[in-house]
Amino acid sequence: MDYKKICHSVCDVAREAGVFIRQYAGTIEADVVDKKAQHDLVTFVDKGSEKLIVDRLRELLPESGFIAEEGTDTTRGEVYNWIIDPLDGTTNFIHGLAPFSVSIALQEGDKTVVGVVFEVSHSECFSAYEGDCARLNGAKIETTSTDNFNDSLVATGFPFRDYSKLDDYLKVLTFFIENTRGVRRMGSAATDLVYLAAGRFDAFFEYALKPWDVAAGAYIVQRAGGVVSDFNGENDYIFGEQIIATNAYLYNETLEQTARLK
Ligand code: 2AM
Ligand code: CA
Repeated sequence: MDYKKICHSVCDVAREAGVFIRQYAGTIEADVVDKKAQHDLVTFVDKGSEKLIVDRLRELLPESGFIAEEGTDTTRGEVYNWIIDPLDGTTNFIHGLAPFSVSIALQEGDKTVVGVVFEVSHSECFSAYEGDCARLNGAKIETTSTDNFNDSLVATGFPFRDYSKLDDYLKVLTFFIENTRGVRRMGSAATDLVYLAAGRFDAFFEYALKPWDVAAGAYIVQRAGGVVSDFNGENDYIFGEQIIATNAYLYNETLEQTARLK
């Protein structure tokens, strides 16, 4: 498979979805917002973006299957599967805030081989494929070399639905508030991950995320020189609903601090 060619085509698809999404930015009224669950929102924009993406990717790789947030197509491919979030950061989008992104990963078996996150409001396309470095709008990006928390900026997502670990989460958050330059909650996990890949953040952690929130961004972090795992230090971070991602230097300490969330 020509991963480079596929990656370029996926960037085009993500940009096209971005154009579709951007035309509705700032126009979303309460009556077009549906609740999938308490605090979990969806609009016709999420669904329209997913339909556009699925149609294009099916054409690009006819034998592939889909794991997509809004369930447009649930066919699984024997070898190739796309993991898609058509709009990551829907709450931001609805409230007229940046960032919000389109996130597309391609898996070959259980290995990610292409990842694209397009942040719509700043037109930033983060991408990576097997054999190449991570890129932002075509230029190479790398994770930082910050090696102590006191010089670091950390991203996380506050729990918004699953509050079962909230007490422990707040203890971990307290550590990062007291021992880093600051903690940011952007509201889009895909964007958090690619900002880490680009050196804007040094570490990220969150629990209860879905595969489409993290698959592409986590891969881009790895291709940018960063480290990704679940809270046990293992590889179940796409389907396991727990993720830490760091630069190459802050991994062990971040894993230690997030251990209470296991
Ligand atoms: P989504 O916009 O695709 O649903 C960050 O915490 C992640 O959780 C986001 O990537 C977001 O993905 C998801 N999420 C779902 N509902 C949320 C909410 N009410 N607040 C914040 N994030 C939410
Ligand atoms: Ca989404």
